Amino acid sequence: MNATNPKKYILVWDFPVRAFHWLLVVSFAGAWLTSESEALQMIHYAFGYSACGLVLFRVVWGLVGTKYARFSQFIKGPKGVIKHIQSIFVSSKHSDPGHNPVGAIAMLALMGLVLLIGLTGYWSVKEFFGDVMGEVHEAIASLAMALVAIHVAAAILMSFLQKENLIKSMVTGKKLGTEEQAIRYPMYFMGVALGIAWAYVFYLVVSGSLPAFTQ
Ligand code: HEM
Ligand code: HEM
Repeated sequence: MNATNPKKYILVWDFPVRAFHWLLVVSFAGAWLTSESEALQMIHYAFGYSACGLVLFRVVWGLVGTKYARFSQFIKGPKGVIKHIQSIFVSSKHSDPGHNPVGAIAMLALMGLVLLIGLTGYWSVKEFFGDVMGEVHEAIASLAMALVAIHVAAAILMSFLQKENLIKSMVTGKKLGTEEQAIRYPMYFMGVALGIAWAYVFYLVVSGSLPAFTQ
């Protein structure tokens, strides 16, 4: 901290990033919890496809979104990753309020895995490659679940190390930083539009209006 540049809570995560994250949690958990029931099959598909829709949105938002939502802000390459790991041992403070470059790898992997789960789920429905695809789908879903567990544990651990509640930040959008580091617009409209689009995709799938994807 420095006298001319005091740290305070500033807006870092825009509303679409937060809406994306918590809707993804709901979708992933929903798909997981409905995966074994034949009666809830359409709900399973609806959660799964809506999760994929969220990830596709996030890819676009990673290119055109606000400062800390952009991939260019947190994908740092091997040098940036090594520098960050070294800095953990020197000081637990992460100077940039955005994602840290190591966590970013897990986030990108999770997004990629969600798309792969969706694709293999679709192929299972279409019975491509016989029964094998169902097994592949389940294996990738289990891998993603293991990574989610690591991701959540890392978020809790880093919150303690950084002495900043990162989970609360994903809800409020606010983190410690200087005024110049803040993003200016929360982009509420975009977040609400994302929520509506998510609900619409869910409804289309669950009501059987997209038979090409569910039969
Ligand atoms: C209750 C469970 C979860 C908690 C508490 C949690 C917590 C968090 C936190 C704190 C961050 C921000 C990390 C930072 O400050 O740099 C984050 C980001 C992220 N998490 Fe989670 N997470 C959870 C579940 C999930 C699940 C189930 C997925 C995906 C299947 C997921 C995917 C992501 C992604 C993709 C990001 C990056 C967000 C963005 O930039 O848009 N998370 N999570
Ligand atoms: C994040 C999204 C998803 C997750 C976490 C997920 C998870 C799972 C899991 C764990 C199973 C195995 C259930 C068991 O124990 O038998 C399963 C089965 C299945 N899922 Fe998903 N799934 C997701 C998305 C989808 C999507 C988008 C579809 C496509 C319509 C789909 C179609 C299926 C089918 C057809 C099965 C039965 C496979 C078989 O045993 O032949 N899933 N899913």
